[in-house]
Order: sequence, then structure tokens, then C-alpha cells
Amino acid sequence: MKGLILSGGTGSRLRPLTYTSAKQLIPIANKPILFYAIEAIRDAGIDDIGIIVGETRHEVKAAVGDGSRWGIKVTYIEQEAPLGLAHAVKIARPFLGNEPFIMFLGDNLVREGVTAFVERFKASKPEALILLSRVDEPQRFGVAELRDGRIVRLVEKPKVPPSDLALVGVYLFDQHIFEAVEAIRPSWRNELEITDAIQYLVEQGHTVEPHMVRGWWKDTGKPEDVLEANRLLLEAVEARIEGQVDGSSNLTGRVVVEKGARVMNSYIRGPAIIGEGSLVMNAYVGPFTSVGPNVTIANSEVEHSVILADSTISDVPERIDESLIGRNVTITRSQAKPRALKMVLGDNSRASVG
Ligand code: DAU
Repeated sequence: MKGLILSGGTGSRLRPLTYTSAKQLIPIANKPILFYAIEAIRDAGIDDIGIIVGETRHEVKAAVGDGSRWGIKVTYIEQEAPLGLAHAVKIARPFLGNEPFIMFLGDNLVREGVTAFVERFKASKPEALILLSRVDEPQRFGVAELRDGRIVRLVEKPKVPPSDLALVGVYLFDQHIFEAVEAIRPSWRNELEITDAIQYLVEQGHTVEPHMVRGWWKDTGKPEDVLEANRLLLEAVEARIEGQVDGSSNLTGRVVVEKGARVMNSYIRGPAIIGEGSLVMNAYVGPFTSVGPNVTIANSEVEHSVILADSTISDVPERIDESLIGRNVTITRSQAKPRALKMVLGDNSRASVG
């Protein structure tokens, strides 16, 4: 079997972070989302993986390389524009040949991995196997309608969802999917939808096996989802101190202090992770916080947040909570008069002052 990871697209719902960075490379618990997909596929015993890349191709290639770090072979497949998930399958055909494959959306996280689904697919040999999960807002996803455990209908982002069963962004296919992606037409959002291609397989009488995901699953399409995925992943983090923690600091719960990080006169309540080379000084870092590499947090309090590389938070009088802070951002208190909030925020930023 082969693997196909989709890492193109625009990431418009995660702006401004995605103006400068691919959404699949946003770190969750200090590891790019995309790496979790690579590792899940590798752990299922698949070592030949194609990665669809779009306008952020240079960045994705720089982060992933040739795959040797994971003991896999990576082939990059260039998509000229985000024309849909089924379009990605179409252009991947020369790479995939006639082998069955697992397709994994590069912004999805599946806690339990995919090994059981790959085994299941190999054993029962359906034309397609899809994963489903119950969600609160099915209209944001592809939605499945089942009868007696069989798929009756699949619809992409329906206004009136026929159920609360969302299609998870992991699919297993054999070569019949190529016929389906050729047969369908672009949707209202002008994309070739994989949901429509699978619906075509159902209509043609092919077997499409549905499976429920048991553990959590997250599509990290929106900032709230990134924070939630970060919370879920930190839930399972193991304590590890490789940096320096001075005698006047207090660490409780599961805390990771990476190499070269320094914690001075601070209180860290886990689960939390302090990235390589970061400095936490006279500060409080609360649960569910991922502090990226080379970040400074001084005389400030942060909780339930994700802070990316090279940012500085210093002398902020209020606790920062539920925030997603990009790279090289500075948040600081100014002593200058008049007292005022002074900001340089990128397009589509959000700041709430309390
Ligand atoms: O997350 C699950 C959902 O993913 C499913 O429930 C939906 O049925 C499925 O259509 C998809 O919906 P999204 O609207 O969330 O897909 P998105 O545009 O975010 O793309 C998913 C990933 O695929 C993302 O990493 C970007 C990449 N992509 C997307 C398109 C449209 C590509 O590489 N090429 C593309 O042309």
C-alpha cells in the first residue's frame, strides 16, 4: 500500500498565521500537525508516501525533507491550485499506480492512529473504507447517512445535515476511486469533492465500508480547533526535563522542558511544554500551554495557549488565556504615556482586551 497526504490548500480560516506559513506546519504540542499524519501512516507499515503540495511547497519540503528521518520515502506531487481533494487524487495517479492507498488530510489528527483501519482494509478488501465521527457541527464537514450500518448517502457540508456523522479526513481506496474522480463534476465551491467521488462509488454498487473512530479526532481548520487539539495532545504528554529549572521555580503535573530552555523563578502547572532555547522568567505557565522554541515569557502569565517560535511576552499585566500567538510576535507593557493599547496586528488578527 501507499500513502497520500494532502498538504496543499490555502488555510484561509487560520489567517493571519497562514499568511506566512502552511497550516499543516502549525505545531501542536510543539510538533507540526503534518508530522503526526506521517507517523501514523509509517506506524501502519506504509513507507512510500506521496505529499500533495501547493503554494507553500517550499516550506513543506524544507520541513519534511526526503522522509529518511522517519525511515520512509517521500514523493512530492505539485498541485497547481487547490481544486479539491478528488483533484489531488487525480494528479497523484502516476505516483499511486494501481496500488491501494490511504489518503490522509494533512490538517487532521487522529488519536488512535490508522493501523487498525489499514489492517481492516487489507482483510475485508472493500473498494473504499471511510472513517466517521460524531460532531456538534456536521454542516462544517462531509456527512454520512447510514441505514443498518451501511452508507446510503454522503454529502459535503450540507446546510441541513442528514446526521451528525462527519467524514474524518482519512480514507482508504483501491483503484476504483480513479474512475470516480474522473466521473464527478466540481461542486458549488468549485472543487472536485472526494465526498462526491465516494458517493459515486456507492451509486455504482461498490462496497464502501464505514468505521467509527473511537478516540478523538480533530480537523485543525480554525484557531479554536488548534487550541483544542493542543489540549488533547498535551493530555497525554509525559514529563521530561532536559533544560534548566532553578531552585526557586515550581513545576507541578506533567511538564516538558526541552533542551536549552531555562525556567527561572517561575511556576509551571502541567500539562505544558517549554520549547528548546526558551526562557520563562518570573512567570506563570498554566495547563495546556505549548511554548515553542526560542520564546521568552517574562513577568507574565499564560494559560491554555499555543505560542510559536521566537515570540516574546513580557510584563503583561493580565493573564493571557486561550490564545494562539504566531512566530516572532512581541506582547509587552509599555510605560510610555498616554497609557494605551498599541498594536501592530496582521490582517484577520483577533485581539480581545478585557
Ligand atoms: O477534515 C475533514 C473534512 O475534510 C471532511 O469532513 C470533508 O468531507 C472534506 O471535504 C474536508 O473538508 P475541508 O473543507 O476541511 O477540507 P480542506 O479544504 O480544509 O482541505 C483538507 C486538507 O487538504 C488540507 O490540509 C488542505 C489540503 N488540500 C485541500 C484542497 C481543497 C489540498 O492539498 N488540495 C486541495 O485541493
